[in-house]
Amino acid sequence: MPDKRPPSLTNNISRRNFFRGIGGFIANHWLLTSLPLGGVGILGYARHETLALKEEHWELFYPNLPASLEGKTICQLSDLHLESLRISPETIEEIVIAQKPDLLVITGDIISTRTDLDKLESYLGRLTATYGKYVVMGNNDYRNLSHTLFKRYLMQFQHLGWTTLLNDAYFFSSLNLWIIGVDDPATAHDDVDLAYQKVFSSSSSSSSSLSSLDTPPFRLVLAHSTDCLDDVAKNGAELLLAGHTHGGQVRLPGLQPLITNTYLGDLGFYEGYHVVNGIPLYINRGIGESLIPLRFNVPPEIAFFTLHRGDSLPRHQSS
Ligand SMILES: [Fe+2]
Repeated sequence: MPDKRPPSLTNNISRRNFFRGIGGFIANHWLLTSLPLGGVGILGYARHETLALKEEHWELFYPNLPASLEGKTICQLSDLHLESLRISPETIEEIVIAQKPDLLVITGDIISTRTDLDKLESYLGRLTATYGKYVVMGNNDYRNLSHTLFKRYLMQFQHLGWTTLLNDAYFFSSLNLWIIGVDDPATAHDDVDLAYQKVFSSSSSSSSSLSSLDTPPFRLVLAHSTDCLDDVAKNGAELLLAGHTHGGQVRLPGLQPLITNTYLGDLGFYEGYHVVNGIPLYINRGIGESLIPLRFNVPPEIAFFTLHRGDSLPRHQSS
């Protein structure tokens, strides 16, 4: 479990990390260059793993969880990268629908090209969740779209029943739940204070009517990357869901990934559940790939989080 203080910059430039980075660079480049040169077995394994979609089930415990959220399940998809995705819409749909999630969220990088706009309906149109579907943008969602096409992209989400949160928040009064959507930190679209604006204006107007028996709302934050963590920690959150790292995407056993693309990733937190700077956070490995259409030692995932009142440590099952 990492330290609760903000990670220190000095960790980032230590000799150990420098040489570990060099080792990872050589090893991962060896893998990438050996694949087209006839590493048939490795290539076969990587191909298999790229399609081996895992389910990661987490049970998370909070002493102050609102009673309305007991047993509720959030499903997180991330980094679909539809431009090269070979996992079928039916496979994703089957896994999501079987769990009957209460909330469905996507933490960015759904598309990277204009032509992917036409794939949105087949991948996202039939997914359902009891309390709705929420999405935040990633760096690739902004990459190749004009302002006009980006508006069309947002309208497509709306048409398919998804709510886009671009530095905005939505309150479920029946669940006592805020969903706070931070726009993409990787392209500096993040404005965390703006994303929390409704949360704070609501709490100041309702604080006088809260009795001592009321439980504070649960604040679920969605962001494409953890690079907004400092500001999220300043404002407070019960859970931050992020993606962007792909877990490194290509990783030789025992070595750090070559690229994680995040500040925390460079410090070793590039996948899974952690508590950093007082914020419980989850870094999803994503479903698709970027740069090369392969994964190695980092299977794609769909994550499920079931919330409970209590003070137990998180429980995890992978299947
Ligand atoms: Fe990304």
